[in-house]
Amino acid sequence: MYNQQQTKELQKSTANLLQAISSSQQQPANQIDLLREALRFHEYRYYVQADPLISDYEYDMLYKSLEKFEADNPASITIDSPTQRVGKGLIKDFPKKQHLVPMLSLQNSYSQEDLLDWDRKAKALTGLAVVEYCAEPKFDGASISLIYENDLLIRAVTRGDGIIGDEITTNVKQIKSVPLSAKFSKYGILQIEIRGEVLMNKKNFKAFNDKLIEEGIPPLANPRNAAAGTLRMKDTAAVSKKNLEAFLYHVSYIATTDNQRPTTDKSQTSNFKPQASDLKLPTTHSGMLEMLWQLGFRSPQKELQVIKDISHVIKHVNESETQRDELPYEIDGMVIKVNNLLLQEVMGMTSHHPRWAIAYKFKARQATSQLINVTFQVGRTGAVTPVAKITPVQVAGVTVSSISIHNKDFIEEKNLMLGDTVLIERSGDVIPQIVKSFPELRTGTEQVISFPTCCPVCNHQLFKPEEEAVWRCININCKAQVVERIIHFVSKDAMDIRSLGEANVKKFYDMGFLKNITSIYALPYDELAKLEGFGNKSIANLQIAIENSKQQPLHRIIYGLGIRYVGVTTAKVLATAVKHLLDFASYTEEQLQLLEDVGVKVAKSIFQFFNDKENISLLQQLEHIGVQLKNDKKKVVNEGDLAGQAFLFTGTLNQLKRSEAEALVEKKGGKILGSVSSKLNYLVVGDDAGGKLEKAKKITSIKIISEEDFIQMLSG
Ligand code: IVH
Repeated sequence: MYNQQQTKELQKSTANLLQAISSSQQQPANQIDLLREALRFHEYRYYVQADPLISDYEYDMLYKSLEKFEADNPASITIDSPTQRVGKGLIKDFPKKQHLVPMLSLQNSYSQEDLLDWDRKAKALTGLAVVEYCAEPKFDGASISLIYENDLLIRAVTRGDGIIGDEITTNVKQIKSVPLSAKFSKYGILQIEIRGEVLMNKKNFKAFNDKLIEEGIPPLANPRNAAAGTLRMKDTAAVSKKNLEAFLYHVSYIATTDNQRPTTDKSQTSNFKPQASDLKLPTTHSGMLEMLWQLGFRSPQKELQVIKDISHVIKHVNESETQRDELPYEIDGMVIKVNNLLLQEVMGMTSHHPRWAIAYKFKARQATSQLINVTFQVGRTGAVTPVAKITPVQVAGVTVSSISIHNKDFIEEKNLMLGDTVLIERSGDVIPQIVKSFPELRTGTEQVISFPTCCPVCNHQLFKPEEEAVWRCININCKAQVVERIIHFVSKDAMDIRSLGEANVKKFYDMGFLKNITSIYALPYDELAKLEGFGNKSIANLQIAIENSKQQPLHRIIYGLGIRYVGVTTAKVLATAVKHLLDFASYTEEQLQLLEDVGVKVAKSIFQFFNDKENISLLQQLEHIGVQLKNDKKKVVNEGDLAGQAFLFTGTLNQLKRSEAEALVEKKGGKILGSVSSKLNYLVVGDDAGGKLEKAKKITSIKIISEEDFIQMLSG
């Protein structure tokens, strides 16, 4: 896409632009095209090539500079400006749109014989002794089709029924590896339809599910569902945060200057002047993917292999299967395509699939089994979770015999009954999930799953808070809860006292050695040494591990406390906010909400935790024992610490003059906006605030804070 010379020039102009930004804050009008060009280049380096040349901060500076220029000069905005990915407000609905060419699916194969058979057919249909193939990953995501007209992305549509799908253009524009414009005109292309797959990579999927679990929402079974669900979100800003990715792997339609003009709406592209087409259209599939790559798309150009002999194809797909887990995203097989586009036409298609391509599916990460029983487990927060016992089944290399089915809502949504046949999926390092049941296979002997009314461990009456989907045992001394709290405290992401695993915690609790979290630090080691299976060495190791845990960083203790909705990520945020853990005892819910990613629900839960006498006493005892509750690395708001944050003041301020407050924001590198929009980060509310406050309440990303909060924020 960019040769060495262009890369050097763009890097130089980036340096000049950054220099100009740091001195004058405003770009001269004649630099705007350069600024856009630089931003496109760095997006490409980051999202397509995964090889960035500048820091995130420098990218943000360039982006904000363009944003500022465009806000002051709205007439200059072009629809493919890097700022135009950002959607405004909420999407009302996704209109139905017809694909230019129906989106067929692929014929599947599962064995070497299937591939040999397909190779024989390909040779027979083309009349050739040797057919060149292109093998590439079968990306496991949500398929989309994109239409570019006169070099601009004008539409993105879901697969739908293959003929008609939902238009999701605004959401697809949030995927930074999808170019908003590309120089197709260099190839004489006026209109092109491109297919691809939208993915959520494994790392982002894990974070996505962890967040759901933190919120008490059942996690999703696989990244495919997460990608498909995200594409259909109505809040574009939320889509942007999910960092979806896309691979484009097929050109389904091209209109060139030599055939016909496109017929879709051109109102947005009236400035377009076709260039002389100096480049020839590729005649092979791999050539098309190379063309897309050269135009700035993330096509599987590096992942594909052109192979002539089917035995080599078989070897390659088998190798790919063994390497599948090393990829950062999920693939569920390989796709083999006849490489020559003319031969593809000769081979044609059935009503379901092209004859020139075949999917080779890897061993399934799914399996069916029988739901034979449901037991109920009591967690550390007292939540009573139904666990399905299934006929043991192998899924992606491990035997699964029990699976959490979360809560009543989940059971209803998946339509689960005792005796049902169920589909299980185990995707990547995610715990297995039930994907669905098969009600059509019921025999009439299935039974409704009934819930207990008393705790299965301590027999205390269960209680269901109205706003929640789970039933809870509210006896905090319930054995199950105490044991689970200790197990959580010593677990890998918390205090990481490995030698005190789940089994030992249960054993020591039953023997009366462990009663609560603090008793971990008072274990009678000489007694333990007398137990069968515990030699002096293992007891010494246990003692060292427990002693060492006292110096664990603060975020591990916070996570280990098992505060509801506080997972690893939130614990890390909390740990950097205070100098001592007990400082949270004086925080208000509003102050907690000022912390990154802490919403109303999470703030309430943290607030409740630190306003409970028993919890405070637990922390004091831990500190007395020697557990480190201090944090030396508290983030203090320094000069420049409001960089990138946009503020607006409304209503009458009591302690500061409006102009003083605005100057303080600017001094610390923040900016002042004139109105409420999704670009606003903080609305500072004084007395008698009116319309701006009402408007800001509707935009969830805006933090609404008081004058006191604001002052507190500045003083750190
Ligand atoms: S080619 C006309 N190539 O798999 C053929 N499809 O199970 C167009 N898929 O509907 C499809 N990776 O959503 C093709 N490298 C790849 C693919 C791929 C994933 C999806 C696609 C298709 C489905 C069929």
